[in-house]
Amino acid sequence: MVELEQISVRFHYGDGSTLQALDQVSLSIPEGCFVTVVGNNGAGKSTLLNVLAGTLVPTSGRICIAGKEVTHWSEVRRARWIARVFANAAESTCGNLTVAENFAVALRRGEFHGLGWYLKAEERKHIRDQVARLGLGLEAHLDRPMEQLSSGQRQSLSVLMATLTHPKLLLLDEHVANLDPETADRVMALTESLIREEHLTALMVTHEIPYALAYGDRLVAMERGRVLVDLDAAQKREVSEEKLRDLYRSRPASTLALAT
Ligand SMILES: Nc1ncnc2c1ncn2[C@@H]1O[C@H](COP(=O)(O)OP(=O)(O)OP(=O)(O)O)[C@@H](O)[C@H]1O
Ligand SMILES: [Mg+2]
Repeated sequence: MVELEQISVRFHYGDGSTLQALDQVSLSIPEGCFVTVVGNNGAGKSTLLNVLAGTLVPTSGRICIAGKEVTHWSEVRRARWIARVFANAAESTCGNLTVAENFAVALRRGEFHGLGWYLKAEERKHIRDQVARLGLGLEAHLDRPMEQLSSGQRQSLSVLMATLTHPKLLLLDEHVANLDPETADRVMALTESLIREEHLTALMVTHEIPYALAYGDRLVAMERGRVLVDLDAAQKREVSEEKLRDLYRSRPASTLALAT
């Protein structure tokens, strides 16, 4: 279970102005729930992921993961529990390291005793088997530098690496946004099967409404730092793309009501 209780984030700028990026956001996400998150630019989606990952300490509110309050845990302390994939493959993987070395880093995420870039023989075999499942032939290129791979290949590996250690929470921030439509579909399907197989709790931010509707068991739409629409699986199946766009687009928060 991941719980956000009245999380607020206020940014303060040099000119004295402030911005309420998250405004009393409360969400309770049961274990194994796959939540898709939509919202316009600046709605607070990445900020929400940042407070969950520990990159950002909320101005107020509490965050609990698996029954433990982690609100003031550092990003490093949470790393063993939380995996994250970004839009840019270069943010999720290290280009200078080989594919195998990237996997070694992913395997030891959150461990404090040194950064082993070396894979033991049985770990290498396990990783080769996992990479082979992608069907991209990359298992033959474990010793190639990551930067020599295409974005789609890198993102596929990123999702695999993120799920490798069974995180308590998987955060996906527009992770297929920079891929061509066909590759994006493939990486999305891979994402879903890994989440389901591992029974992971996941939050996936996307600007693609069709993805937000087709994947996951719950849909959250944000606007101006608030959760405006929170649809369960049944409501999500009922709502049309148009209706959803209508529900959260350019309307003052106070006038929004869920009416599928
Ligand atoms: N580190 C920061 N310092 C100051 N302001 C920030 C910071 N991060 C985000 N903001 C502001 O907070 C608001 C929410 O930003 P956020 O990145 O969460 O939006 P988003 O919903 O992820 O948008 P997008 O779809 O463009 O990625 C924006 O107005 C942004 O300018
Ligand atoms: Mg964002």
